[in-house]
Amino acid sequence: MARTKPSISVLGLGRVGLCFAVCCANRGFHVVGVDVDEEKLDMIGAGKAPFYEPGLQAMLEKAVEKKDLELTASAGEAVARSEVSFITVGTPGRPDGSVDLSQIESACRDVGKALAEKGAWHLVVVRSTVPPGTTGGLIKDVLEISSGLKCGRGFGLCMNPEFLSEGNAIRGILEPDRIVIGEYDKRSGDALQAFYEQFHGNGLSHGLILRTSLINAELIKYASNAFLAMKVSFANMIAHLCQLLPGADVVSIMDGVGLDKRIGRAFLNAGLGWGGSCFPKDLAALLKFAEGLGLQLPLVKATVEVNERQPLLAIELAKKVLGTLEGKRVALLGLAFKPGTDDIRGAVSLKLIEALLAEGADIVAYDPMAMENVKALLGSTISYASSAREALREADCCIIVTEWEEFRTLRPEDFKELMRKPVVIDGRRIFRPKDFEQVVHFLAIGRGPRKLT
Ligand code: UDX
Repeated sequence: MARTKPSISVLGLGRVGLCFAVCCANRGFHVVGVDVDEEKLDMIGAGKAPFYEPGLQAMLEKAVEKKDLELTASAGEAVARSEVSFITVGTPGRPDGSVDLSQIESACRDVGKALAEKGAWHLVVVRSTVPPGTTGGLIKDVLEISSGLKCGRGFGLCMNPEFLSEGNAIRGILEPDRIVIGEYDKRSGDALQAFYEQFHGNGLSHGLILRTSLINAELIKYASNAFLAMKVSFANMIAHLCQLLPGADVVSIMDGVGLDKRIGRAFLNAGLGWGGSCFPKDLAALLKFAEGLGLQLPLVKATVEVNERQPLLAIELAKKVLGTLEGKRVALLGLAFKPGTDDIRGAVSLKLIEALLAEGADIVAYDPMAMENVKALLGSTISYASSAREALREADCCIIVTEWEEFRTLRPEDFKELMRKPVVIDGRRIFRPKDFEQVVHFLAIGRGPRKLT
């Protein structure tokens, strides 16, 4: 049967690229996936996802089996065999906050060379997060120089930011809240819109698509992440205030604040701070970018500052009860930067471990998924337990670092029975204080001292 949907290529099979490629294959597109890492290609080719993401493994197996996802290390081959190329390579942050664009430069150079051979109009879509001006500047220049073609005539160019939330990536791609199409020219934007119309079929409402310029699309990504992180830091700032006020509780306050439809309850969960592969990197990049223009972004700066302090609040709470942490056994429940993933990039747990080690604490940690990643990074600097209950054994203090579902099933009696000293610090507000306060020494982020009545 002749294919009615175009063939696409996806360059860079990391979290964003692989999830997107597999979803496209699932929606009936023929996908050519490209990566420079041959080992990764072999793994994906064998139908095995190189990282955990709910729903990905089954969809990948199907795509490979049905040959809807083909793999190659050659960008040239992929461009030749497709009509649209999505670029999803990494744009890692440097220690000074600036963005390393070498992978995207190299991918675009390869695409450009292939375009020179192709002789037909081809759409290039940047999905990687890049600083404002990069798509219409560096990327366009590299494509034009390496292809010898003019953007807009020989090929089209769009900036289509991804808003992938780990643990929810597949649903986010199949049922997005929005599709932002930054376009170099109308033809490019029309072609990408036509792709999404085919991808979503009748499921696509037109209010979902925003057509805009390349630079606006780039900025929408940074502004969205800065705003979300700011909401979390705002809740965390109020949490800090609550900790000084008898009877105050940030959870109830944010429930009340979030009821206002203009604000909304999402991303107002106070905790030990935000982490991950995007918020830390993107906020640092935005600050660095603005600095280059001689501009301060005070709200973004404060968002980061609140976040840096946040894990230390757990240590302050622990010290209130235990005095010094020197030689004390501290159990950390959760290491992943959020539940549902094995990812520890930018994880609060790592900052907490560093600060606890500096206090002389003896750390034992448990996480249902991220333990191997932490072991690879920290080795035997800390000890690892095979279950949450195991971690609690003989501990002087327990800190809830990641809100995994399985931790919610722990009862206050478990802590009392297993720990040497039952000091529980709920860093993610997963327990009902009322249940715990009677049984153990319970402290929580954003909860004031108990009211004396
Ligand atoms: C985020 C954005 O949601 C996504 O749109 C963007 O493309 C990439 O960055 P992700 O990093 O996967 O996605 O995680 P997210 O669910 O947004 O959480 C980020 C961090 O904020 C986590 O550490 C999480 O624990 C923390 N968080 C989130 C809170 O502490 N409180 C909240 O209320 C929400």
